[in-house]
Amino acid sequence: MKVGIYYGSETGNSEMLCEDIEAELGGDFDCHIASLADVDPAAMERETFYIFVTSTYGNGDLPSTALPFEEALTQGKPDLSGIRFAIFGLGDQVFSETFNHGSMKLAQMLKGLKAEQIGERGIHDASSFEMPEDIALPWVGRIMEELKAKVA
Ligand SMILES: Cc1cc2nc3c(=O)[nH]c(=O)nc-3n(C[C@H](O)[C@H](O)[C@H](O)COP(=O)(O)O)c2cc1C
Repeated sequence: MKVGIYYGSETGNSEMLCEDIEAELGGDFDCHIASLADVDPAAMERETFYIFVTSTYGNGDLPSTALPFEEALTQGKPDLSGIRFAIFGLGDQVFSETFNHGSMKLAQMLKGLKAEQIGERGIHDASSFEMPEDIALPWVGRIMEELKAKVA
């Protein structure tokens, strides 16, 4: 199965995490990493499982590299029915009012266009002193089990 691992990142944490996820899944799946800056949501394929990894900036917004993707969703309103995805957010609890709102908003947008979310949204808190990969790799293991159970 093809797995698209797409990141929205300002300072590279989400991109690095995608590389860790690819290393974790790469033996079993045909993985492809891309920046959301380079992805057209209308070109997403139903045969591919998508894992989105994004941080939060500004007033609970997606990072600037992901804003064109957001605009393509909100303006183009592509029909994403049949698309399955999971999402992991990087944020910082210091920003308590907007903690991880970027990943929350992106999940809502994708579901609003009829994509199906697999599993719970994963979350990392930069002020927790835990490494993102220590949270995300067990999370992605659970996600792939849920996906397997769903398609079986
Ligand atoms: C200027 C600035 C604004 C931020 N705003 C938020 C925010 O509103 N909510 C949140 O949860 N995290 C916020 N963060 C934390 C980042 O999302 C977090 O550090 C993340 O790990 C960055 O990942 P990246 O390198 O992939 O962009 C902010 C960080 C900075 C530097």
